[in-house]
Amino acid sequence: MENFDLYLPTHIIFGKDRVEELPELTKSYGKKVLLTYGGGSIKRIGLYDKIKELFKDCQIFEVSGIEPNPRITSVRQGVEIAKREKIDFILAVGGGSVLDASKNMACGAFYDGDPWDLVLDPSKVGKSLPIFAVLTLSATGSEYDNSGVITNTDTHEKMPIFGNMWPVASVLDPTYTFSVPQNQTAAGAADIMSHTYESYLVRKGNTLTDGFCESMLRTVIESAPRALKDPNDYEARAALMMASSFGCCGLLNIGREPSPWVVHGLEHELSAFYDITHGVGLAILTPAWMEYSLNEETAPRLANYGINVFGLERSADVMGTARKAIELTAKFFKDIGLPAKLSEIGIDDKHFADMADHVLKIWFGDFSKALRPLGREDIINIYRACL
Ligand code: NZQ
Ligand code: ZN
Repeated sequence: MENFDLYLPTHIIFGKDRVEELPELTKSYGKKVLLTYGGGSIKRIGLYDKIKELFKDCQIFEVSGIEPNPRITSVRQGVEIAKREKIDFILAVGGGSVLDASKNMACGAFYDGDPWDLVLDPSKVGKSLPIFAVLTLSATGSEYDNSGVITNTDTHEKMPIFGNMWPVASVLDPTYTFSVPQNQTAAGAADIMSHTYESYLVRKGNTLTDGFCESMLRTVIESAPRALKDPNDYEARAALMMASSFGCCGLLNIGREPSPWVVHGLEHELSAFYDITHGVGLAILTPAWMEYSLNEETAPRLANYGINVFGLERSADVMGTARKAIELTAKFFKDIGLPAKLSEIGIDDKHFADMADHVLKIWFGDFSKALRPLGREDIINIYRACL
C-alpha cells in the first residue's frame, strides 16, 4: 500500500432544484459576482434566467462564450474584470470548459501578470477567488477537483493548471444534463471511463480502489446507453453525474502507484492541434493504448478488468481474456456512437512526432511509469495505431 493524501474540500450539493440553496451558501462571500458560462446552452435550458433571479441582490458581471477546450483569451477577459471590479466570487455555470477557465481566472485575479504564466509554471499559482459551480455536463470531474485544462491556440498548447482551486461548492442537478446532445453525452461517458482507466490500469493497485474503479466503469457502461436512449432518464443522468465527480478527485488513486495519466497526455496534444472534443480523442486512443500495453506482464490486470467489468469468465487463457476485454472496450465506445479512428475525424500523421516531443516535455506524469513504459517511439506508435 502506497502512502497517500486525500483532500476533498468541495461541498457537493446533489439533486433536482438544489441550485436554489446557492444564494444562502454564497451570502458570506460578498455581492460582486463574476458569472461565467459557455456558448448559450444555459440560456436554452432556462438556467441563466434562474441564476439571475436567484442572485438578483448581487451585482453580476459576466464572461460568456467560453469555448470547449477553453482558450486563454477567455481567461484573460475574466481576470481583467475580476481585478477591475474587485469581484468577490466566481459563479461558473456549465461543463468542464467553463469550470476550468473559471479556475484559471480565479488564481489569475491574484497574479500580477498574464494568467498563461500560471499554466506554464504551477509554482506561480497562489491565492484564488472562491468558485461556486453549477454543472451542466457529466464528464470531467472539474466540479470536484483542483485542476483545469487551458488551451493557447497561438502556441498549439493545451495544458493543465493545478492549485488551490477546488470549488467551494458544486451544484449537481442531473436535470440540467437532459439537454446535453448525444455526441457530448457519449464523449462525457468516455471521459469518465478514461479517468478511471488512468487510475485503474497501473502496474500495482489495491483491492479497495480496484473495486471503486470497476464500479465506476460498470456504472458508466450501464447508464450511458440509457441516457442516450432516453435523454430525460433521471436515474441514468444522475448515475453519470455522480460518477463524473469521482473520476478526477483522487479517490480512485488512493494507496496506488501514482499514475502518469498517459492517455490524457496524448489526448491533450490532439485537442491542442485539432480542437477535437476531449472524450472523442480518449475513446479513439484508449483501446489502442490498451492493445499496445498488453504483454505477459500486464495481461492479468487487463483480464481482471474484463472479468470484473464485462463479466467475462475467468479462464486459464489470461491473454485471450485480456484481448477480449480490449475488444469489448472498443465495441462499447462504438456502440455509443463515438468514432474509432483518427482518420474518421480528419486527423493524419502529420503532427505525431511534434505531439510526442511536446507531451514528453510538458506532461506532469512520468511515461516510464505507465502500465507498459512508453518512450517517444511508443507514443508515435500508439498514435499510428489510431489512424
Ligand atoms: O458552450 P455551451 O453552449 O454551454 O455548450 C457546451 C459545449 O458546446 C455543451 N453543453 C454543456 N452543457 C450542456 C451543453 N449543451 C446542452 N445542454 C447542456 N446542459 O457541451 C459542449 C461541451 O462542453 P465542455 O464544457 O467543453 O465539455 P466537458 O465538460 O466535456 O469539458 C471538456 C474540457 O474539460 C477538460 C477537457 O480537456 C476539455 O477542455 N478536462 C478537464 C478536467 C479537469 N478539470 O479536471 C479533466 C479532464 O480530463 C479534461 O481534460
Ligand atoms: Zn478527461
